[in-house]
Amino acid sequence: MSAPQRIQQHRRYLMCRPDHFTVSYQINPWMHPTHPTDTARAVRQWQTLYDTYRALGHQVDLIEPIPGLNDMVYTANGGLVIDGVALGARFRVRQRRGEEGPFREWFATHGFRVVAPIATQEGEGDLMLVGDTILAGHGFRSELASNSEVAGVFGLEVVSLCLINPAYYHLDTALCVLDPVQGPGGVDRANIAYRPAAFDAPSRAVLAERFPDAIRLPATEPESLDLNALSDGRNVFIAPYADNFAAQLRERGYHPVPVDMSELHLGGGGIKCCTLELRGARS
Ligand code: ARG
Repeated sequence: MSAPQRIQQHRRYLMCRPDHFTVSYQINPWMHPTHPTDTARAVRQWQTLYDTYRALGHQVDLIEPIPGLNDMVYTANGGLVIDGVALGARFRVRQRRGEEGPFREWFATHGFRVVAPIATQEGEGDLMLVGDTILAGHGFRSELASNSEVAGVFGLEVVSLCLINPAYYHLDTALCVLDPVQGPGGVDRANIAYRPAAFDAPSRAVLAERFPDAIRLPATEPESLDLNALSDGRNVFIAPYADNFAAQLRERGYHPVPVDMSELHLGGGGIKCCTLELRGARS
């Protein structure tokens, strides 16, 4: 059987240069404040990701990095943007609350309708759009109570998924949306990749039922940020060491594009965490 033909979509992303990236506190198990970080190396790796997106035809907008906000490079947590509506984030962790205002301001000054959140929710890090459904992670950062709020703001179905391993503290560390296009089988056939061991049993059952064609990666020791990847429908930007994932992507007609973000892994994030998708009004 030949692999299906994948279609690249033109995307618009928001990124933030890691000029002030360092690890000086611990808010996830990947972070070790005693382990030195190399900010210049983080900037070089980030620049390669930025250049790779642009070379493949994507539009990349930038938000100005702010001194003291070490984690601002992880723009996925800045909000969730669908159909020109930007729902801001409300961080559980106090170290990142200073990012809430700047992200909302950026959305407002760039033509998005901004909605201020009520419940705790860390943006696209825990809220991932697949077709017309939002998959919503909770358990560590975003609270379950945010899910009905998110459904109301966007008028979309929200499927709650419970994360159980602190190394996979945001949904985008355990699940990757590969093909958000509603195919012939409907949204539930849309392709995702995920690591079942990161979810509780009811969530695993929901994922298995809704995404029978998903790529499922086994648990690893130590844990891996290989699923913190980003797909444009055809190109999948992934960590260079993610061999198993890359092989499975190729089998399904995707084109893995390796980008090394190892320095940013020291803060607990990779390619996807450093990228927020800006979805304009649908025509
Ligand atoms: N140090 C950051 C935090 O713990 C990393 C965030 C990674 N972002 C993501 N979307 N998973 O908040």
